[in-house]
Amino acid sequence: MIKNRSLIEPEDFSITEMESLFILAEKIEKDDKYLRESCRGKLLATLFFEPSTRTRLSFEAAMLRLGGSFLGFAEPGSSSTAKGESLADTIRMASSYADAIVMRNPKEGSALLAKQYSSVPVINAGDGGHHHPTQTLTDLLTIKQLMGRLDNLTVGFCGDLKFGRTVHSLAKALARYKKIKMLFISPKELVLPDYIKNLLKKQNIEFEEREVLEKSMPDIDVLYMTRVQRERFFNEDDYIRLKDTYVLNPDKMALSKKDMVVLHPLPRVNEIAVEVDSDPRAAYFKQAKYGMFVRMALLASILGVKEII
Ligand code: NCD
Repeated sequence: MIKNRSLIEPEDFSITEMESLFILAEKIEKDDKYLRESCRGKLLATLFFEPSTRTRLSFEAAMLRLGGSFLGFAEPGSSSTAKGESLADTIRMASSYADAIVMRNPKEGSALLAKQYSSVPVINAGDGGHHHPTQTLTDLLTIKQLMGRLDNLTVGFCGDLKFGRTVHSLAKALARYKKIKMLFISPKELVLPDYIKNLLKKQNIEFEEREVLEKSMPDIDVLYMTRVQRERFFNEDDYIRLKDTYVLNPDKMALSKKDMVVLHPLPRVNEIAVEVDSDPRAAYFKQAKYGMFVRMALLASILGVKEII
């Protein structure tokens, strides 16, 4: 049962619970009246201490489409954080006004802290370079829809694997499926954190770390491109040196499988050339749309007037 639960890390939900969410999201995609009124009278707080386009707008669109409403802020400068209020106090207040909280915050661990101070469910919309579980739901739903399966896949992660929270969450989530091989392609300075690698090792997940994207292209079923996370660098020179290490272009696409899919959580900066957008394997805009359907399924299940999952 997902009703009234928080979502802080991808493993907070079982595989079966996630499967049920995907089935709901697929029903919503096919029939836009499905679950339409399920959040009537419910209020969602969207507290964004960091910039966002897709995550915030898709949560707000999801809530409105379910018949509910939202309130919140899109930047910390317009909240009492600017006056020095602690996160704990902001969360206590928001949870006394709303029925659930969606929060994005630059500090790792902030979502877990918010859950401890909240009297209503908290959904982590990204805590620093740590986790982003609703992007993972979006990514898994997209892979399931486009590849027809979530097992028996070689998934290539490329770009900023050190700071990319979407990578951390997706790698942990995919590790729960069978016959998954992961290729982590990054410059040496931006390799996957040890704590994720250790988790994968413990679970006997096959993975390799590589530096060259071209060499890996023929092996990959799902290519997960990511942006170099400028805001998490301590030094602008390092960012400038590393930002264009990988640019996916038609020449590199020509080396890959015919049925590969390219995902990207977006926003894209330079890492995918715009010429790739018209390639049928480019799925990142479709992926962004699935994000709204899966967030509708999630909100209806957590907040819905009726118990769904
Ligand atoms: C991602 C994020 O915020 O971590 N964006 C998103 O939610 N779709 C990826 C990024 O910002 O690079």
